[in-house]
Amino acid sequence: MTTHRKPDAADHAEPELQRHFDATIARDQRVEPRDWMPDGYRRTLIRQIAQHAHSEIIGMQPEGEWITRAPSLRRKAILFAKVQDEAGHGLYLYSAAETLGADRADLTERLIEGRQKYSSIFNYPTPTFADVGVIGWFVDGAAICNQVPLCRSSYGPYARAMVRVCKEESFHQRQGYELLSTMMRGTGAQRAMVQDAVDRWWWPSLMMFGPPDGDSPNSAASMAWKIKRHSNDELRQRFVDMTVPQAEKLGVTLPDPELRWNEERGRHDFGTPDWAELTRVIRGEGPCNAQRMERRRRAHEDGAWVREAATAHAAKRRARADEGAAA
Ligand SMILES: [Fe+2]
Ligand SMILES: [Fe+2]
Repeated sequence: MTTHRKPDAADHAEPELQRHFDATIARDQRVEPRDWMPDGYRRTLIRQIAQHAHSEIIGMQPEGEWITRAPSLRRKAILFAKVQDEAGHGLYLYSAAETLGADRADLTERLIEGRQKYSSIFNYPTPTFADVGVIGWFVDGAAICNQVPLCRSSYGPYARAMVRVCKEESFHQRQGYELLSTMMRGTGAQRAMVQDAVDRWWWPSLMMFGPPDGDSPNSAASMAWKIKRHSNDELRQRFVDMTVPQAEKLGVTLPDPELRWNEERGRHDFGTPDWAELTRVIRGEGPCNAQRMERRRRAHEDGAWVREAATAHAAKRRARADEGAAA
């Protein structure tokens, strides 16, 4: 038997749907694409997932520059696989954004027009091969701190994407650390190269977690919706605590005179990143912002014929299928 909705049913639908959504979040269950969700939740997720996807794709550039110059076949194969993984992460995440009704071409357009951001970290240069190692160690390490809690994010497709992505990120971090420990067993010049890269990447890596909690306007809503599980400062602290013993083992010095173990807190105290620098880099004034965007734009234009050819091919296949069905 069908029940007929009264004409005003739609007016009452939303509070009921909202209650159902709130209960799903409260029970730590996943919100799925077919479920009703508040507009703000959807918008926040699209922004976060798109920004994450853009970061994976732009993040291919700084290390990609070293693929043709890797010092051995083994290093080239590892780096090639790593950069390819990042492309996969990007595509995976664009697909997750599409489950929310976003359009991938539109998201790319927004990135290229500068209306959507990517992680500030990828606007720093990679002048030596040690940078490849330090990016793996610090940047992929920071990504792991950020992304492991996202495996429990309230939005199902995003959480599931993160499970696979995190497995690959941990390989990325280890290849970086292994590269650096090889260099540290090498010549004095190689050790100096590693220390120099550590000095340049340490503070920008701490900035990857975003501004301090007090200045992070979107965090509160994301935490309430359980999209995000930990605050920026908490994740930054975890990264520091994880990295300090690794630096000691490697034999490098982290460039922070205030860095020390705090017995009482059971955690490390550390200095304050230069937040003005983060603001400048986000505003587009980092050392490589223009270069990264220019290369992304060019890659998009160079790929136009592939997209057109794929669209034309899909149309022909559809037409053939229709003919077959009509016959
Ligand atoms: Fe990645
Ligand atoms: Fe990675």
